[in-house]
Amino acid sequence: HKPGVSGARGLRFAPVAPNKDDKVTVPDGYEQNLVIGWGEPILRGAPAFDPDRQTAKAQAGQFGYNVDFLSLLPLRGERGRQVLVANHEYTDENLMFRGYDPANPTREQVEIAWAAHGLSVVVVQEEHRTGKLAAIGRHPLNRRLTATSEFRVTGPAAGSHLLRTSADPSGRKVLGTLNNCAGGTTPWGTTLHGEENFNQYFANGSSATDKRYGIGSSTTERKWERFDKRFDVAQEPNEPHRHGWVVELDPFDPESTPRKRTALGRFKHEAAQPRLTSDGRPVVYMGDDERFDYFYKFVSSKRMKKGNSRAAREHNLTLLDEGTLYVAKLTGDSPAAELDGTGKLPSDGEFDGSGVWIPLATDNVSHVPGMTAEEVYVFTRLAGDKVGATKMDRPEDVEPSPRTGRVYIALTNNTDRGKAGKAGADEANPRNLNKHGQVLELAEHWDDPAGDGFAWRLFLVAGDPNDPSTYFAGFPKEKVSPISCPDNVAFDDHGNLWISTDGNQLGSHDGLFGVATQGERRGELKQFLTVPTGAETCGPVIQDRRVLVAVQHPGEVDGATVEKPASSWPDGPGKIVRPSVVAVWRKDGRDIGV
Ligand code: FEO
Ligand code: CA
Ligand code: CA
Ligand code: CA
Repeated sequence: HKPGVSGARGLRFAPVAPNKDDKVTVPDGYEQNLVIGWGEPILRGAPAFDPDRQTAKAQAGQFGYNVDFLSLLPLRGERGRQVLVANHEYTDENLMFRGYDPANPTREQVEIAWAAHGLSVVVVQEEHRTGKLAAIGRHPLNRRLTATSEFRVTGPAAGSHLLRTSADPSGRKVLGTLNNCAGGTTPWGTTLHGEENFNQYFANGSSATDKRYGIGSSTTERKWERFDKRFDVAQEPNEPHRHGWVVELDPFDPESTPRKRTALGRFKHEAAQPRLTSDGRPVVYMGDDERFDYFYKFVSSKRMKKGNSRAAREHNLTLLDEGTLYVAKLTGDSPAAELDGTGKLPSDGEFDGSGVWIPLATDNVSHVPGMTAEEVYVFTRLAGDKVGATKMDRPEDVEPSPRTGRVYIALTNNTDRGKAGKAGADEANPRNLNKHGQVLELAEHWDDPAGDGFAWRLFLVAGDPNDPSTYFAGFPKEKVSPISCPDNVAFDDHGNLWISTDGNQLGSHDGLFGVATQGERRGELKQFLTVPTGAETCGPVIQDRRVLVAVQHPGEVDGATVEKPASSWPDGPGKIVRPSVVAVWRKDGRDIGV
C-alpha cells in the first residue's frame, strides 16, 4: 500500500493503467493466486487435468469451462472455509481440443462440452492472514451440474403443455442448464443462476417465438443436434422452452435437485439478485441481455423465514414460486428535442426520469391481454412487447446496494441503437450506436422494492473520460479511469460498486473497477485490475480481505486455436489456455482499499 493513495474508503489503491498485457495486473502492493481453473478435479475419483486425454467422464468430475458468475458463501462449522459456486457459461471448442474440426465434432468432444457447461460447487480454504484461497478437492459439498444433470421445473408454468417433450411428458423434469451467465445470492443461502444465450444450442427453429428468442433456422455452431435430438427444434419444438430460466441451487444440500423457477419468466436471463421488502418478501431484479430488450422484477408473495432449521429451509425454497412478475417502463424528464443521440447532457444536467413496473402475471393469472399466464411465463419477451416495456441497451448484471437499496443495472452497449428501423436514443439509453454502455441507478418509490413506481438516473455513461458523451455521476472526469462495456456488478461492504467489463472498445483489455456511489467521491471510478488477452472479467466477489474474479475465455480471439493460441495464460507458453478463478489481496494483510 502506497501512502497517500487517495480514494473513498475501500477504494484507496493506485489505479491500474489500461494495458494489453497477457496477464492479470493488480495494483501496487497487491498479490494474486489462481484459486481454481478449468479441468482441475473437484469430485472424488476425477483425474488430474490432461488436455490431451480429455474425456466426458473426467470433465464431469472436474471444474468446468468459462466461469461468469461467482458466489462465496460462509461455511458453518469449518473454520477458514467458504463455499464457492461458479457458473460455467459456455465452451470454446477451438481452444479446448487439439486439432478440433468445427464441421465434424466427435461424440466425445460434444459430451466433454456438455460436461464443461453448468455449475460447480467447490469448498475453498482461506490462507491465514492473507486473501489467498485454495480449492479443496473431494469435499463432500463439492458438486458438478452439467448439460445432462436433472433439474426440476417449479412455479406456475411447471407441467405446462408448452414444456412437455417426448422424453419428459410431465413438463417438470429437464436435463441440463446451459449458458449460465451471471446470477445472485439469496439471503436464505441459495444461489440463483441466469440461463442466458440458450438459443445458440438449438437447431432448426421455425416458429415466431423461436425467432423472438434468437433460435436459428439451421444447424448450430457446436452441432449438438447431431448427437441428441432434443437440440433439434424440428424434432422437439418444446425443448428450447425448458431453457432460459433462473435456476435456484441449494449448495449446502449436495443431494438436492436444482429448480428452474418459471415464476421469474423466460428470457436471456443475465442475472437475478434479490432484495427483501421490509416485511421479508424477496424481490428479484433481472435483466434480459439483448439489444432493445427489457428489465424485470419478480415480487414474491411469501415471507422469508429466518434461521437454518429444516422447516425454514424448506419454506424458503418455495419463495420464488409465488408472486408477481413485472417489466419496467422508463420515462425521461427532459424534452425529446434535447436528446440528440450524442450523449450530450440535457439542460437539467442529468439523464433521469421516472418509471413504472407493469405487472405481467401473478401466479396463474395473466395481466397481459391475449396471453395466458403460461404464455406470459414461457414467452415473457412477447409479454414485454405487448405492454410497451422500455427497450434497453442490453441489460446485464444488476445489484441492489445493501446500504441504500438503490438498484444498479449495467447496460453494456447497443451498437444498433438509432440504426435504420431500430429504436433511437431515449433518456435512459441516450447514445446512438452505443459502443461503451452505461450504468443506471434506480430508486424505488418510498424505498419499497415491492412498489410499482420508481425514479431513475444514469450513474455512469461509459467511455474514455475525454469523450464528451461520458458522465461519471458529475465527478471530475480528469480523475477517473476509462471504462467500456460494464457487465457484472457487485457491492463491497463500504457501499462501493464494483464493475467488471466485457468487450472493451477502447483498445485495451477488460478489467475490474470500483466506484463510490455515495458521498463527495460519488462517481470516482478507479481501475483495480486488468485481464489477459481475449478475456472478459467476471465474478466479481468483493470481501474485506480479497477480490475474487473469474477470467472468462482468455485467448478467445478470432482464428485462435490450441495450436495457434492468442494467450498463454495462466500456465505459460506451450500450455493450453484455461479459464480460471483468481483471488487478489493485499500483501500487507490489511483489507482491500482501506
Ligand atoms: Fe453472458 Fe450478457 O453476458
Ligand atoms: Ca433529465
Ligand atoms: Ca454478462
Ligand atoms: Ca459477459
